[in-house]
Amino acid sequence: MKQVGIIGTGRYLPEHVVSNDDLSRLVDTSDEWIRTRTGISQRRISTGMTTSGMACEAGTAALTNAGLEPDDIDLIICATITPDYFMPSCACLVQERLGAKNAAAFDLAAACTGMIYGMVTAEQFIKSGMYENVLVIGAETLSKVLDWKDRSTCVLFGDGAGAVVMSAAKKGINLLAANLESDGSKYRLLTCPAVTLDNPFLLEQECICYDENGMSNAAEPAGTQKIVMNGQEVFKYAVRAIVDNINTLIKKTGISKDDIAYIIPHQANYRIIDQASRSAGIPIDKFFINLDRYGNTSAASIGIALDELAESGRPRRGDKVICVGFGGGMTSGAVLLEWN
Ligand code: UT7
Repeated sequence: MKQVGIIGTGRYLPEHVVSNDDLSRLVDTSDEWIRTRTGISQRRISTGMTTSGMACEAGTAALTNAGLEPDDIDLIICATITPDYFMPSCACLVQERLGAKNAAAFDLAAACTGMIYGMVTAEQFIKSGMYENVLVIGAETLSKVLDWKDRSTCVLFGDGAGAVVMSAAKKGINLLAANLESDGSKYRLLTCPAVTLDNPFLLEQECICYDENGMSNAAEPAGTQKIVMNGQEVFKYAVRAIVDNINTLIKKTGISKDDIAYIIPHQANYRIIDQASRSAGIPIDKFFINLDRYGNTSAASIGIALDELAESGRPRRGDKVICVGFGGGMTSGAVLLEWN
């Protein structure tokens, strides 16, 4: 089996900074509440850039960082829950704009765990020998699916994109191990409805949907296409998911907690990371945190953080880094990386 590595990273954040004070003019909230409950001070919000536009910027940065040309890319995977279109995929739009004419392209939806799912998917294509170079992008314009009147959600999220180039090349950051999990039974904790069922044959007031008892005829709430969340339950899931995924990788590989130099968690809430750190017995200063500046950028967050960690020059050769994500689905997952 081929060794797979990350040979380039990139990110894009919209220029427009929205502070907590800015939000307190929109909804009944305060800088104090947002900072103490989440750790977020500000976020970037698109003033016109689309998801594919941001994906393209992050992808271009990652390609440049990897020293590759668009022609070298065999596959583009875009992880997003906020694509420009249902069809075409965000990945096809990126392919067109980059001029990556040799690439296959598709989107992947695993919410905030999208970057982890994307990296693991890319790893399989490379390991199998089907592809050499894969561009994985996590990109979101969450600002378009936020209810800007709901203070319990609109203060948490931001827009942005992160990208990695993965390759069979024996340089870069090696991917040593991975873990993916899903728990569809908890899907209601975090939702954003798609287009509601609408056709000339609909039976009035009736809509076939899934609930905890399986298929039923219960009426689904009208799809507002906005994010709805059970914050406290997501919080509990998130802490457990971070700890469980780290422990699973430790068990799979035989490394010890002391061997881990950095952990890049999905950037949702400082308190989630703090509780996970205590529960896992891993010091908080090993956790890379940038959510104070960007808020929760869903599928983009881990790619952005990985690019910032790489740019900081802090990791040394041989350092082991765990990226761990959790999100809607519910989904979670982690990868163990080794710096080269
Ligand atoms: O990628 C995964 C995405 N989701 C997450 O990571 C979310 C995970 N959950 C969380 O981060 C936290 O549950 C929140 C930050 C969403 C909420 O924090 P909390 O400590 O669980 O607060 P809460 O929901 O228990 O609300 C406490 C109070 C409530 O008021 P009452 O009922 O006690 O009077 C809320 O109405 O805070 C109120 N509140 C706010 N107040 C000011 C909720 N949002 C706000 C707000 N500003 N933005």
